[in-house]
Amino acid sequence: MKIIVTENFDKTCERAAGIIGDVIHNKPDARLGLATGSTAQGVYPYLIAANRAGKLDFSRVNTVNLDEYVGLAPDHPQSYRRFMDENLFDHINIDKKNTIVAKGTGDIEANIKAFREALAEKPIDVQLLGIGVDGHVGFNEPGAVLYDGAHVEELDESTIDANARFFDKREDVPTKAISMGMGDILRAKKLLLLATGENKAEAMKGLLLNEELDVQNPATLVKTHPDLTVIIDRALADRVGYRG
Ligand code: F6R
Repeated sequence: MKIIVTENFDKTCERAAGIIGDVIHNKPDARLGLATGSTAQGVYPYLIAANRAGKLDFSRVNTVNLDEYVGLAPDHPQSYRRFMDENLFDHINIDKKNTIVAKGTGDIEANIKAFREALAEKPIDVQLLGIGVDGHVGFNEPGAVLYDGAHVEELDESTIDANARFFDKREDVPTKAISMGMGDILRAKKLLLLATGENKAEAMKGLLLNEELDVQNPATLVKTHPDLTVIIDRALADRVGYRG
């Protein structure tokens, strides 16, 4: 595991975008695994700026997202499809046909099958990850069992609380999501996990300070990956007690 400690969250995002850019430079038809949420949102302006400056070409890139809420149509303001369009895809030269976000409405079993088939088509070259307050990656929530492939996940109360900030009322937050499984995430060739904020410190301790693989903190499983880069800011590193 490579751990990078930056001055602040903005530098974390700049660094992450640089790593994703390097992957695309080395492989112009790379498959990117993308994430939503506030952490990933900080990275996308850097990718957009590089694209606009003519330094990064997405014309042959394809993407697959970690997850999507069950019950939100693709055009719902809080759907992850909409998030990706608004925060990245609408601003770069990517062909939207080459962007996969699982569909959260209609026949969910059929949508999971289609998502699984898309994931099986080719490996992810770099997977961007945030981390939940409870240690989830994608929406793989703590529990007695973690899953290999794409599946429907019941969201934890703490995840619903954390995501309520994006909705008018807590009751509007979906309680389920389609998520890549832990196996899907671990099969990516390269993992890039970013974190910021003191509410992520407990989960990050499990990833950074010991060798335990803990199903109650799913992010700990990514430490088994042979090419994992973790980027955190100094404030979080201090909070975690990481002295690297
Ligand atoms: C998003 C995702 C989640 C988030 C995590 C952190 O696609 O899969 O695992 O990365 O919930 O969210 P933020 O960055 O909003 O704190």
